[in-house]
Amino acid sequence: MPALPPLRLGVNIDHVATVRNARGGKLPDPLRAAAIAAAAGADGITAHLREDRRHIVDGDIEGLTRELKIPLNLEMAATPEMIGIAVGHRPHAACLVPEKREERTTEGGLDAAGQHNHLKPLVARLRDAGIRVSLFIEADPRQLDAAVALGAPVVELHTGRYCELEGAAQNAELARLRKAAALCGKLGLECHAGHGLSYANVGPVAAIPEVRELNIGHFLVGEAIFVGLEKAILEMRRLMDEARAAGQAA
Ligand code: PXP
Repeated sequence: MPALPPLRLGVNIDHVATVRNARGGKLPDPLRAAAIAAAAGADGITAHLREDRRHIVDGDIEGLTRELKIPLNLEMAATPEMIGIAVGHRPHAACLVPEKREERTTEGGLDAAGQHNHLKPLVARLRDAGIRVSLFIEADPRQLDAAVALGAPVVELHTGRYCELEGAAQNAELARLRKAAALCGKLGLECHAGHGLSYANVGPVAAIPEVRELNIGHFLVGEAIFVGLEKAILEMRRLMDEARAAGQAA
């Protein structure tokens, strides 16, 4: 059986900035977290510059762009302001996410199908700047078709619902993720996944053959309080690799 393609781990450092901002100072430094993540084997760093700057701020993106030795995936709302910032910094990738000011975290996926006319020029501007565009969407065939129509090469499937559910409902959501990932393969979209992943639930998602990257943040930063960031990332990496190997054997 041919080996499954490698699965990358993008470490989201937003919540290092959340803790820093709780006191309004400089510590803990998200750039230090990014350096530790890179040394622990993260394949990329993800940071979400929210419109309200509640965690990552513009200076963090400047610092990451300057100092990071691994790819930066900038998550952002699909607004002209954010597109301008991305084009100014030229991260490796930009992931367009829906954003509501009052939400605690990104709820639901981007409505790529319903917002085609709004998104089309923004995706084109990012692509013209040489930035790899990804759309954070629900595992819905309509949204995958919309990503193709927009010319986005990558989609990130929202795993939030899978992570919150249990039992049969969780299995049903996993089946939906698997189907969407397989469809990505047919449509020529690179498939990423993320949101809410932890040691307890990462395995089945990591084993989906078409998934090429997982973006994980909140759990890793929380676990780092107890074991340190390096150990938390190494354990996540181990669980991803183990699930991938088992998926290949299945
Ligand atoms: N992927 C995207 C597009 C996100 O918006 C987030 C949360 O910022 C994540 C992944 C990471 O989610 P979590 O912090 O729950 O691991």
